[in-house]
Amino acid sequence: MKYTTLQISIDANILTATINRPEKLNALNKDVFTDLDQLVTEIEQNSDIQSAIITGSGSKAFVAGADISEFGHLDKAGAKALAKRGQDIFARIENCKKPIVAAVNGFALGGGCELAMACHFRIASENAKFGQPEVNLGLIPGYGGTQRLVQLIGKGKALELLMSAHMIDAKEAKELGLVNYVTTQETLLAHTQKILSVINTKAPLAVASCIKAANAVFDESTNGFALEIDEFGNCFDTQDMQEGTQAFLEKRKAVFTGK
Ligand code: COA
Repeated sequence: MKYTTLQISIDANILTATINRPEKLNALNKDVFTDLDQLVTEIEQNSDIQSAIITGSGSKAFVAGADISEFGHLDKAGAKALAKRGQDIFARIENCKKPIVAAVNGFALGGGCELAMACHFRIASENAKFGQPEVNLGLIPGYGGTQRLVQLIGKGKALELLMSAHMIDAKEAKELGLVNYVTTQETLLAHTQKILSVINTKAPLAVASCIKAANAVFDESTNGFALEIDEFGNCFDTQDMQEGTQAFLEKRKAVFTGK
């Protein structure tokens, strides 16, 4: 697929998408949204891809937010449409059947923090900084940030960060559970790839069910426990479940096909 703002590489069934607007600290403009939307389609449809990483170009920023220069001409209806577009794309990332991990290599502010939070989990380099500074602009997050920040770190701390625009460093982000690991800048991608290479050896349909069931916790219209029963049962209809259990009994390594 053709992208104008993303650099794509695929290695060992892991796609890495690098948002490439370093001169604007990788801020999310219309073109980045178009590309991220298309990226999810590529991840879903390309059978060579088992999992993906989203990161930012350069050593300074993951994504420094929505592109503020595109806000000037928006009226109320336009702003709502922009927030809806952002939320729809980020929901596609969150609900993607294949793991998508944010490798946060610098500032993850505003829409950047929201993008990282829409990913299935986050790894940060030690120079990373997280924050929702929208109140500095007379705004609030619009791409799901008020919801996912509360989900990930709890209401009290989330509200403090949302209302104060305070930025936290990678160490504090890890303490709060916002990121899983903190690495050096040099080892960020290798560390993320290493985690995904382990996940890629597991049964893909079971991995997809983990994502679906975990997301159900935050979906009021779905009974997560009932969904878990369904997904557990569905696994018994897969060749991979037969293979996984058979391989265990035969004391050999399972070979999964995603069927
Ligand atoms: N939207 C548009 N452009 C942005 C941007 C954003 N969210 N964040 C940074 N940029 C641009 C700057 O305007 C600047 O462009 P210029 O060189 O053409 O003037 C360039 O990226 C570099 O940013 P700069 O502010 O000079 O870097 P810095 O190191 O001094 O500060 C930040 C870094 C991240 C602290 C600062 O850029 C910032 O506060 N950005 C906005 C963060 C924000 O409010 N995000 C939420 C948006 S809703």
